Amino acid sequence: MIKRKKPLLNRVPRHLAIILDGNGRWAKKRGLARTEGHKKGAMNLKNIALFANELGIEVMSVYAFSTENWSRPQEEVDYLMKLPKLFEEQFRDSFKDNSIRVAFSGRRDRLSKANVDLLERIEKDTASRDGMTLNICLDYGSKDEIIRAVKEVVKEVQENKLPLDAIHEETLGKHLYTSEFPDVDYLIRTSGELRLSNFLLWQVAYAEFYFTKTPWPAFGRTKFLRALISYAKRQRRFGGLKG
Ligand code: IPE
Ligand code: IPE
Ligand code: MG
Repeated sequence: MIKRKKPLLNRVPRHLAIILDGNGRWAKKRGLARTEGHKKGAMNLKNIALFANELGIEVMSVYAFSTENWSRPQEEVDYLMKLPKLFEEQFRDSFKDNSIRVAFSGRRDRLSKANVDLLERIEKDTASRDGMTLNICLDYGSKDEIIRAVKEVVKEVQENKLPLDAIHEETLGKHLYTSEFPDVDYLIRTSGELRLSNFLLWQVAYAEFYFTKTPWPAFGRTKFLRALISYAKRQRRFGGLKG
């Protein structure tokens, strides 16, 4: 059994979402290929995931590849599709030692068979761990996810398994990839863009947001902690009044 450390902050998000952006620009600024930025970004993910687990975060959802990212040059897409393997080799031991579970959200029908097998194996191998869940969103798009959920709900209605009046927020929520997780409490986007780019639209309904100019590969533990301190100071009201 892994003993969890006492939290450093008095309040951390239960579910943290991160849009890992700026790998390409980070590399370009250093005269490197964009792929070098993706590699460095993957290594930073390991570092931040280990830290987030130490801080007591329950779920960390990260945007690794969107349903729109297929439109990038083939060479870059090919490289990104090799990252799950690199990730597995680099993270396996430290994630095991820290009891971190890994789950994947997103479509599987456009991934290679080798990647689908790998994702399934990683999920199976880590399923019983009691630390943080790192939810990697790969070929993920929020609109795609919602359409998929709506189709499943409609099917239940058509088959007379679900009365129309019994459709509530939770009904749709149950059909999302994130069904077992609480809604997102905090969303961080690195590298300066002020948009969501089709990430977890339903789940961020009441999330707090944090945008930073720092590109993902340079977003280390100190900067991450600064972002979490900002969260700890936020007053969340959920439509109610100040307590
Ligand atoms: C984020 O970095 C990683 C992916 C989207 C796969 P980018 O590749 O978007 O880097 P920039 O935004 O072009 O710098
Ligand atoms: C969002 O970043 C997707 C991921 C981080 C995986 P993008 O770089 O693809 O987003 P846009 O194109 O700038 O909105
Ligand atoms: Mg980008």
